[in-house]
Amino acid sequence: MQSFSASPIIGPPGSGFNGGRLWVFPELDSTNSWALTHLEDLQPGDLVRAIHQTSGRGRLDRTWIAPPGRSLTFSILLDPTQFPVAPPLLGQVAALGIVQGLAAWNLPARVKWPNDVLISNRKIAGLLLEFGSRPDRLVLGIGLNVNLTHADLPPAQLRRPATSLQLETGQTFELEAVLQTLVRGLESAARQCASPADLRSAWSEKDALRDQLLQIETSGEIVSGRYLGINPEGQLLLETGEGIQQNFWSGDVERVRHISSDA
Ligand code: BTN
Repeated sequence: MQSFSASPIIGPPGSGFNGGRLWVFPELDSTNSWALTHLEDLQPGDLVRAIHQTSGRGRLDRTWIAPPGRSLTFSILLDPTQFPVAPPLLGQVAALGIVQGLAAWNLPARVKWPNDVLISNRKIAGLLLEFGSRPDRLVLGIGLNVNLTHADLPPAQLRRPATSLQLETGQTFELEAVLQTLVRGLESAARQCASPADLRSAWSEKDALRDQLLQIETSGEIVSGRYLGINPEGQLLLETGEGIQQNFWSGDVERVRHISSDA
């Protein structure tokens, strides 16, 4: 069911990403869903934020739970033809942008394929890239755990541990200021990733999966192997046997153990 959405407050050009506008809604079901159904009202770079997102969507048909006042939930409309990397790679550029934004608080964030952001192996941000009905429109959704406490998060021993800015620093954050810092990080990453090769090298510098033996769950199957990085198409590469390499477009990745890089 579509939730009620009061009129947004729309900021001036430049208040969003790369010259776009900031649209702030008190409540939306999902900022990605709203942006996808209002492509024609938006311009590339427009950023749609919901103060309260009631039915956030995550990757692999999961839900994204974001308590109002303690999380940032927003989507940015992008024109993928304006970027030098293939559209599916924009989620990876954005994950690097979040890492750059979090560096403002000296937080050593890392990226995890396909486009999660982790601190100390706990997820702090998730990204959902969705294609619009036009080839020159794409919606990038970002959820960041800001002032969440342990009570807001699933128990740490579960398979997918999470964290927040507050848990990492002991401070409480003003959401609007965090949003602006993240947007500057996203803009900086978009400039830095001027080619697929730049993206791969930036990714490998911040890669949380480096030197790991992994398990990937994909299409109901579990495959294990040594992580070899990402290829120019943004696929995950695993060595699954002596001299056998497999590429994956999507899936749920879990670390099994650390291995030395010369193993
Ligand atoms: C994931 O890690 O599974 C991706 C989570 C993406 C959540 C964000 S919150 C803003 C935007 N709107 C949504 O419905 N989802 C994304």
